[in-house]
Amino acid sequence: MSNSTIWNFWAKRYENLWVQKVSLAPTRAKVIEELREIITEKDKVYRILDIGCGTGQLILDIKRSFKEFDLEIHGIDFSEKMIESAKENLKASEVFSKENNKIKEICDDESLLNVMDTADLNKIHKKFHIITCTHSFPYYKNQRKVLMDMGSLLDENGTLIIANASENTAYDKVAMKLVKLTTGKATYPSIEKMNSMKPKELILKNIIKIKERFFMPSIILFRWKKV
Ligand SMILES: C[S@@+](CC[C@H](N)C(=O)[O-])C[C@H]1O[C@@H](n2cnc3c(N)ncnc32)[C@H](O)[C@@H]1O
Repeated sequence: MSNSTIWNFWAKRYENLWVQKVSLAPTRAKVIEELREIITEKDKVYRILDIGCGTGQLILDIKRSFKEFDLEIHGIDFSEKMIESAKENLKASEVFSKENNKIKEICDDESLLNVMDTADLNKIHKKFHIITCTHSFPYYKNQRKVLMDMGSLLDENGTLIIANASENTAYDKVAMKLVKLTTGKATYPSIEKMNSMKPKELILKNIIKIKERFFMPSIILFRWKKV
């Protein structure tokens, strides 16, 4: 079974998983907090790319949190079913009401949500002010290359936010072994490993440990700026 088959299986069930409460939703909230320091200019169009966007929950949260700003948000994921759900969610959402036509564009223009493997990031010819990637990076085969490609896709002074489980302790390793039973092959890089893999032009602006419950493994959010 290929990795995208597993995620196709999870797509319809994804938003009801218990990890939404203890891991995925708290991560999205932290990403939004970080973005509050970055999305500040009303006369700018912010181009944002959410990599491994799943069912589009982060895209929706960003839209809801920054309604007064001009955002062009793209999402990619290699699971067709995830992208299908993301399109449905965005269309059904209140932020796409008639009163808010600008926001409606994201699903009218289907090209903003695409089925794509991160191995093909170098085929994207746009640059972005912000790239986000939550709970997806551990599933990428060549993580160092993906980080390089993410760096290349950023505008000068652009921001990259990556957040996911990270194996820093023996407890993390045991917990993530269990998670892998449901997701297939994954590598949850430690903080040290992430720092060693990231390209030089990315400078660390913030690092946060997200721990909602004592039993959760480390979830680490990195915020880098391209210089
Ligand atoms: C745990 S879900 C995270 C979804 C969403 N970002 C979130 O925070 O809820 C992992 C997502 O990464 C996607 N994914 C995994 N490997 C990928 C790859 N190589 N290229 C693109 N997407 C990938 C999966 O299809 C899945 O939607």
